[in-house]
Amino acid sequence: MSVTKMAINGKELELPVIVGTEDETGIDISQLRKRSGVVTLDTGYGNTGSCQSAITFINGEKGILRYRGYPIEQIATTTRFPEVCYLLIYGELPTQEQYTEFREGLTHHTLIHEDMKKFFEGYAITAHPMAILSSMVAALSSYYEAAEDDEAMNLNIVRLLAKAKTIAAFSYKKSVGQPFVYPQNHLSYTQNFLHMMFSVPAEPYEVPPVLDEALNLLLILHADHEQNCSTSTVRMVGSSETNLFASISAGINALWGPLHGGANQKVIEMLQHIIDDGGDYKKYVDMAKDKDSPFRLMGFGHRVYKNYDPRAKILKESADQVLGQLGVDDPLLEIAKHLEEIALEDDYFVSRKLYPNVDFYSGILYRAMGIPTNMFTVMFALGRLPGWIAHWREMRLDPAGRIHRPRQIYTGPKMRDVVALAER
Ligand code: SDX
Repeated sequence: MSVTKMAINGKELELPVIVGTEDETGIDISQLRKRSGVVTLDTGYGNTGSCQSAITFINGEKGILRYRGYPIEQIATTTRFPEVCYLLIYGELPTQEQYTEFREGLTHHTLIHEDMKKFFEGYAITAHPMAILSSMVAALSSYYEAAEDDEAMNLNIVRLLAKAKTIAAFSYKKSVGQPFVYPQNHLSYTQNFLHMMFSVPAEPYEVPPVLDEALNLLLILHADHEQNCSTSTVRMVGSSETNLFASISAGINALWGPLHGGANQKVIEMLQHIIDDGGDYKKYVDMAKDKDSPFRLMGFGHRVYKNYDPRAKILKESADQVLGQLGVDDPLLEIAKHLEEIALEDDYFVSRKLYPNVDFYSGILYRAMGIPTNMFTVMFALGRLPGWIAHWREMRLDPAGRIHRPRQIYTGPKMRDVVALAER
């Protein structure tokens, strides 16, 4: 193993250098404080690796994304979402036998305990579906014991993957005042979700193949993205050995923020606002560049990608194809394309390497499916679920794993004596 030298407080230290399989290089500072008394500071963790992981590789400069070594462009066009779940969680694409068994589990664990339906009655009709999803996922821990061995862990993993889409669909039905629709065992993962969303007792929803394919693509493209905010949250919470359901619930809440998964809802609201305001998209590009304006071009920019997000490229093509096949002419897609055209030639965006990210076009496809805007981040969560689970499992199975407990640099008052209230 190579080392690098560091001089601090008159001491010279040798720190190990870690090199990954794609030549990513990191300085291992795990002994730094013990040997020098100092810590590092990296607000927002833009320069800090929190772990070593074998799940997903991103090269932000080149716009590369691979799940367990497979390029996203190949995964997106040749697999079904349950295959990708298996790949991310267990490390290999399933054989036909493994896939059949895995899908059997996903099919037969889709129902939630009937008692959980009472939870929905307690939510306000205006409850955001992400609030419902995170609390209901945490509530699963009151029905299923924390896993004590691999077999129990795998069963909880299948339960969560299968039930999350039911909770999501039920939260939509609650919001529109329609009765819950139960899953059908003959339907695929994606067909079952759209069935539970849009069937009504009087008329089963016939899932159009073009929308089934689009949903499969969307879930696959969102399935993992290494140490993003919500996945790092799942690892942080899981590091205290809390159960799978509570750890994933924390990830759902982290994803909800408009700077992260909540951006897909904000993109559509932004595009609609531009249209309602007369369609002058140039005005909004100028606002996004204006330091005095809080307005940001939602769906643009990324901490890691300093090139076009490969997922956005695939989604832009899919949006054109799906809307073309449906004969839908969505003005929001046209505005999105105009914004992209201008931004990609404008020095403000070019100099900051701001490109469309996964959230910029995804909402156009969700809209084409009839999914309401406030459900978009739930859709992101359903896609990201296998990634969160894969990282939680990788962290929990790591024999060298320890509770995450970062240090800080204190900047508050120096030591002082309390003055009693009567004398203040
Ligand atoms: C996701 O991490 C992941 O992998 C996330 C994700 C995943 O799959 O898990 O890819 C999913 O969260 C995608 C990102 C979705 N969020 C948005 O689309 C919200 C809009 N984007 C920005 O808020 C921002 O780009 C972030 C949050 C995505 C990234 O923020 P950073 O890395 O902290 O960058 P920054 O805020 O420091 O911006 C750098 C510069 C700043 O200008 P200067 O101070 O240098 O003058 O770029 C500017 C920013 O003002 N900038 C933008 C901008 N994004 C950054 N200016 C206008 N519009 C934007 N969207």
